[in-house]
Amino acid sequence: MSPFCLSIFLLTIFVALFTLFQIQSLHTTTSPSFSPLIHRWQKLTTCNQEIKSLSEKLKESVTFLPLKDLRYQDKALQGHTWFMSSMYDTQEEGGVQYQQFPSNSSNFRILCLKGNDTHDGSWNSYALAWPETLPSNATLMKGLTFVSYNHYNYDNIWHGLSAIVPFVAWHIRNGCENPNRWVLYHWGELRFQMGAWLRNLTGATFGGEEPNVERFEWANKNDPICFEKAVVMRHNEGGMSRERRIETYDLLRCKARVSCNVSLLQRVNEKGLPLIGMTLFMRTGPRSFKNESAVIGIFEKECAKVEGCKLMVAYSNNLTFCEQVKLMGMTDILVSPHGAQLTNMFLMDRNSSVMEFFPKGWLKLAGVGQFVYHWIASWSGMRHQGAWRDPTGDHCPFGEDDRRCMSFYKGGKIGFNETYFSEWARNVLTEVKTRKLEEVKNNSAASTSSCACG
Ligand SMILES: *[C@@H]1O[C@H](CO)[C@@H](O)[C@H](O)[C@H]1NC(C)=O
Ligand SMILES: *[C@@H]1O[C@H](CO)[C@@H](O)[C@H](O)[C@H]1NC(C)=O
Ligand SMILES: *[C@@H]1O[C@H](CO)[C@@H](O)[C@H](O)[C@H]1NC(C)=O
Ligand SMILES: *[C@@H]1O[C@H](CO)[C@@H](O)[C@H](O)[C@H]1NC(C)=O
Ligand SMILES: *[C@@H]1O[C@H](CO)[C@@H](O)[C@H](O)[C@H]1NC(C)=O
Ligand SMILES: *[C@@H]1O[C@H](CO)[C@@H](O)[C@H](O)[C@H]1NC(C)=O
Ligand SMILES: *[C@@H]1O[C@H](CO)[C@@H](O)[C@H](O)[C@H]1NC(C)=O
Ligand SMILES: *[C@@H]1O[C@H](CO)[C@@H](O)[C@H](O)[C@H]1NC(C)=O
Ligand SMILES: *[C@@H]1O[C@H](CO)[C@@H](O)[C@H](O)[C@H]1NC(C)=O
Ligand SMILES: *[C@@H]1O[C@H](CO)[C@@H](O)[C@H](O)[C@H]1NC(C)=O
Repeated sequence: MSPFCLSIFLLTIFVALFTLFQIQSLHTTTSPSFSPLIHRWQKLTTCNQEIKSLSEKLKESVTFLPLKDLRYQDKALQGHTWFMSSMYDTQEEGGVQYQQFPSNSSNFRILCLKGNDTHDGSWNSYALAWPETLPSNATLMKGLTFVSYNHYNYDNIWHGLSAIVPFVAWHIRNGCENPNRWVLYHWGELRFQMGAWLRNLTGATFGGEEPNVERFEWANKNDPICFEKAVVMRHNEGGMSRERRIETYDLLRCKARVSCNVSLLQRVNEKGLPLIGMTLFMRTGPRSFKNESAVIGIFEKECAKVEGCKLMVAYSNNLTFCEQVKLMGMTDILVSPHGAQLTNMFLMDRNSSVMEFFPKGWLKLAGVGQFVYHWIASWSGMRHQGAWRDPTGDHCPFGEDDRRCMSFYKGGKIGFNETYFSEWARNVLTEVKTRKLEEVKNNSAASTSSCACG
């Protein structure tokens, strides 16, 4: 209420009391003070109308802008990005880049969204509004809403994980608050599904149930939907410090193990020697090993030479989420071709090892994306023990370094080099055994039984 309106209000109360007093005193004739009173009353009514008309104006001044801003098409992922491009992110030292509504930076306005287009994000739109003056026909959704921007998709486990990691980081630093719902976008287009693995991981992390992905089926196409509290992420883990990433993956691992009932105890044999799990995590189809039995044989042989070593062979395509969590909990050395299944590595104990395999041609032609499993190893506190790159493979008619060759190499299969694999396995096994012996001696192996968030 403005000072003017407030003074009118107080004056009115005073005048009302005074009038009552006058009536009580049986001054039934019109007192000289009565005509200014009418005057003030009229002024108050005008004031109310003024407020009403101002709030009408505020409601109507809520301006919706396209979620996908085509002006920034060539800088889709930089700075304010092309998604909600008029907004700037908040970032605390080493933390995630995020937007929160309402907040200081939004002038305590809340986020409203409009549209359910699944093909063109420039048809969906966003706006900020004060909770007291929401645009007309708006629906207010209570609780906390996570709004995710994903440049790729929510099915691939690597891209899906990248999208939820920043929310987990926010959750840790904000009293472990769980979302009531998720709104998923890809290029500003709505998405209604997470892949099964991601659904399970998200459910395990934020309260045990499957994440509630909003579909807006109930809403009229042109009506705004506003959110009591919303957190928006569009930069994945970009800008996070190593410690904050490790803290985030620690929570994901811990929550996944708790929800899958995986024991968190240190693993030693009857003699008190550490058990070493070596897992061959196989693919079928593209980037699988040409001769699996030969590869299995090589690692089996080296594993058998180390006391406490146990070799496991698994296929990523037919394990449930909890089977993967369990398997990774028993794995100290993950041996696997380049591919999304390697994303599971963060589910191993910290400091575990990864050995990666590529088909021919990838180093020169596959671009920077081929190093994602080096990155996630570093972010989640694992040791990437290097990669083997097959020197032989499919023939490309354009010459080995031609970019067109990637289509020949992309789905290539992976051979083996017995000498190289044996020596590599031996070295990694020795290193892991030394570390685990020391951990047993120090009694320092990761064996926490409760997670950072409840
Ligand atoms: C909001 O901003 C004001 C001044 O800019 C500052 O004093 C206050 O601490 C901020 N509040 C929060 C919650 O950040
Ligand atoms: C609000 O909804 C009513 C009824 O559906 C409709 O007639 C009206 O045009 C809507 N107002 C706005 C601003 O969309
Ligand atoms: C994992 O997802 C599948 C498929 O959505 C579901 O049936 C299963 O209950 C989930 N498991 C957990 C532990 O959430
Ligand atoms: C989008 O909104 C329209 C109109 O309300 C509705 O008929 C349709 O089912 C919605 N589409 C999706 C994908 O939810
Ligand atoms: C974990 O154990 C609890 C209680 O023993 C049980 O209710 C739950 O179904 C188990 N979950 C899984 C994924 O096995
Ligand atoms: C796979 O490798 C083993 C051992 O080197 C060899 O005996 C076998 O013939 C190979 N299998 C195929 C299909 O090439
Ligand atoms: C899993 O898939 C692999 C490869 O397709 C197959 O060899 C194996 O038998 C399957 N395992 C189960 C338990 O279905
Ligand atoms: C991982 O290794 C480093 C260096 O050896 C050690 O300081 C750290 O405690 C280990 N972390 C865990 C969780 O074992
Ligand atoms: C296999 O690896 C060994 C050891 O790194 C190397 O000397 C040899 O040239 C490799 N053989 C082939 C066929 O690439
Ligand atoms: C074990 O303790 C020693 C001495 O405190 C330390 O130097 C070493 O890094 C520790 N090793 C592990 C694996 O925690």
